[in-house]
Amino acid sequence: MKDTLYINPNVEKGHIRRQLQGHFSEHLGRCIYGGLFVGDDKEIPNVNGMRTDVVEALKKVRIPALRWPGGCFADEYHWKDGIGPKENRKKMINTHWGGVTEDNSFGTHEFMELCRQLECDAYITGNVGSGTVQEMNEWVEYLTFDGVSPMAELRKKNGHEAAWRVQYFGVGNEPWGCGGNMTAEYYANEYRRYQTYIRQYRPDARIYRVAAGPNAGDFHWTEVLMREAVRHMDGLSLHYYTVPHEWHKKGSALNFTKEDYYLTLEKTMYMEELLKTHGAIMDQYDPNKRVGLIVDEWGTWYDVEEGTNPGFLYQQNSMRDAIVAGLNLNMFNEHCDRVHMANIAQTVNVLQAMILTEGKRMLCTPTYYAFKLFSAHQENELVDSHMLTNPLFEGGKLPAAQATASKAKDGTLHVTLVNPSADDEREVKVVLQDFSAKKVTGEVLTGKMGDHNTFDEPERVKDRPFTGFALADEGLTATLPACSVVHLAIC
Ligand code: AHR
Repeated sequence: MKDTLYINPNVEKGHIRRQLQGHFSEHLGRCIYGGLFVGDDKEIPNVNGMRTDVVEALKKVRIPALRWPGGCFADEYHWKDGIGPKENRKKMINTHWGGVTEDNSFGTHEFMELCRQLECDAYITGNVGSGTVQEMNEWVEYLTFDGVSPMAELRKKNGHEAAWRVQYFGVGNEPWGCGGNMTAEYYANEYRRYQTYIRQYRPDARIYRVAAGPNAGDFHWTEVLMREAVRHMDGLSLHYYTVPHEWHKKGSALNFTKEDYYLTLEKTMYMEELLKTHGAIMDQYDPNKRVGLIVDEWGTWYDVEEGTNPGFLYQQNSMRDAIVAGLNLNMFNEHCDRVHMANIAQTVNVLQAMILTEGKRMLCTPTYYAFKLFSAHQENELVDSHMLTNPLFEGGKLPAAQATASKAKDGTLHVTLVNPSADDEREVKVVLQDFSAKKVTGEVLTGKMGDHNTFDEPERVKDRPFTGFALADEGLTATLPACSVVHLAIC
């Protein structure tokens, strides 16, 4: 069956901030330790403790922003435990994630060094659940104040003369759950109080303040936060995980049936409803869309791999995850007037990871390659497009084909298309209004729904050149292989 994608490159609908392709890294399992950071390990090549292979891979997809230190961990993290000489750093229990000892060898300086190497924005989440206003206030002073002050002096004493630039600061994480079990009304007040002391020390580099937002479809939370605190925030977060089955038995990352596959994709499409409904509530209080919706945790969540620590949330990653990534990244593009940032959970070795490591070895997951294809949209203008198609299953939310299009500064049109069908290729007629296509290039990521990379075969799934298109009168036709993500560059 043929679908038609209408694109009008002359109608711009919003700016696609590169931060829509952001990442999240928590002190959880092997995300930081062993994943991003190896400290003094002499065996694994690193620069100042940061794994060279991982940093290089993330730079290739132009990682725009990294959120840290949590997640649930953020609300029991006391930043002063993670500064100064390593031998003096306090050891603590990571109560949320496996009850392991956290030695605080990765702290503020290490995180800012990681962001420097990655050339990405820093998104720090402060502790509201078990921390104080003073603690948060001093962290911001330590990070960003350049003059004479106790915290600036302490930073200098610890070896960093100049203030850093922190682009985003989150006021707590999931205060409705692990971040303190608060009501929306209570947190709204706490948010107003805490954010007051996130001082803007650098007029040239304002910190974007993020209020902790709802758990998936908790629309009341958004209503209360917007009503009570809209003036005091730049962004409101949203967390939604794609869990195929029940939380107590989520399903396996690799051993899944076709039914599980489609169920996962149907569930991930709930993101569309969330963006629309939370967006509509935000519109009532912020019609000019000043405040961003920050989807700072999203991705698939399966049962952990057999034999691994249940608190480490380590899962493999297949073409199913790449399709989930493609569908979500297209949804974020489509809502870029409201969505200012999104952060996949999580960057390395945890949940829907971009990268997996095992000792010295590392691999990029199918999700990584989906991000690679979408990186062409970063900082482009979203242009009007409409896919004339049907849901893949009657009554369902999953479209048979999905796409977004953007225009780069040099006028090139970038289109990302997803064919979620596990078995059937899909022909899409692309109609370009007032745009004559002269040259088309493309890449495709495709495979069987369960295809994945392993440490022995790390490049089984990866992007390849795409040639399945033909120029036509009004535009072109593209034949999307089954289970695929495709990027087309049209000029
Ligand atoms: O990403 C794992 C956890 O999921 C985070 O720590 C928490 O914020 C969410 O519930």
